[in-house]
Amino acid sequence: MYVQQQVQLKHLNTLNLNAIASHYVQIHQPHDVIEALVFAEQQGLNVLVLSGGSNLLLPQQLQALVVHLNIQGIDLLAEDENTVTVKVGAGQVWHDFVLYSTQQNWFGLQNLALIPGLVGASPVQNIGAYGVEVGEFIESVQVYDRELKQFDSILAEDCHFAYRHSIFKDQPSRYIIVSVTFKLLKHADLKLNYGDLKQAVGDELTAENLQNQVIHIRQSKLPDPKAFPNVGSFFKNPILTQNEFDKIAQQFPNIPHYPQANSNVKVAAGWLIDQSGWKGKQLGSVGMFHKQALVLVNYAEATLADVKNTYNAVQSDVKQKFSIQLEPEPVLYSEQGLIQAHSE
Ligand code: EPU
Repeated sequence: MYVQQQVQLKHLNTLNLNAIASHYVQIHQPHDVIEALVFAEQQGLNVLVLSGGSNLLLPQQLQALVVHLNIQGIDLLAEDENTVTVKVGAGQVWHDFVLYSTQQNWFGLQNLALIPGLVGASPVQNIGAYGVEVGEFIESVQVYDRELKQFDSILAEDCHFAYRHSIFKDQPSRYIIVSVTFKLLKHADLKLNYGDLKQAVGDELTAENLQNQVIHIRQSKLPDPKAFPNVGSFFKNPILTQNEFDKIAQQFPNIPHYPQANSNVKVAAGWLIDQSGWKGKQLGSVGMFHKQALVLVNYAEATLADVKNTYNAVQSDVKQKFSIQLEPEPVLYSEQGLIQAHSE
């Protein structure tokens, strides 16, 4: 295990924030996690697990051990008439795995094409897009449990998957995910219910075409992080009670909304931000993307303070207009490498 010091993480986080890590190590095998944790304990450092860097906000200086997970491998564990069970290393690139699954005629993940990040991060916020959430196709998640000091496998039903949520969000520093085991279908069951996906797919009802259409829609709306550094949707879509929603809908009848199972209503954060005048608007070097107001972009050499200024201003304008508090989606870290609450 080789621990580097004073490592620049700018190109390891998709918002391209300048962040120097006091200590940094790459992990290639699950058991290396233990050695890294022992090192951190000896040095009195907190551990920040870095995956694809596409959902986090880093301070300029990090006094912590950054553990960069680079565990590879795709192993077919079992197969029956209808399904395949596949174990995938946490360090595999998510989109590459989706493309690979489609090539193998394994079905289910096509709606989740082109989501940035690595496989190991996919269960954490239960990535979802175009009517599918990854939790529906996860059988179990293999972790190192820092509390019990042992490797474990957590069944999907114990992961408590919900919209952009799982137990890995509730107990963020307890588990280090080393691989994810998926159960995928051998017969395509295309999910076309989201927005105009059905229209985009047209008559060519194949998984490959569905995947291509999802890629096309995302590319047309979402900025490429290489050209416009970003972390995808910056805010969660707020979930309101029916009462709260009715009040707002009286005043704003066009508000895009999606009824939820428990009679709550999810509303589109992108629309709220757009209506608050923030689509294509910048404050200093940070702004909301001109084609999709939900995506915050670092247009120059922004620091975390610049990012906070912009998103606090967005939150405050949305709150003033709609009385809704937007909650940021990416994880915010302190200089000690601990997860912090976002405050306005
Ligand atoms: N809208 C606007 N103006 C905007 C952006 C959106 O009026 O600038 C309106 C749209 O017209 C639409 C509604 O808001 O009526 C919703 O927008 P969209 O369909 O683009 O989806 P979203 O709710 O903004 C969510 C996910 C995305 C995911 C898409 C497709 C969240 C926070 N975001 O976006 O996830 O790709 O649905 O399923 O749930 C991500 O998490 O990084 C991400 C990109």
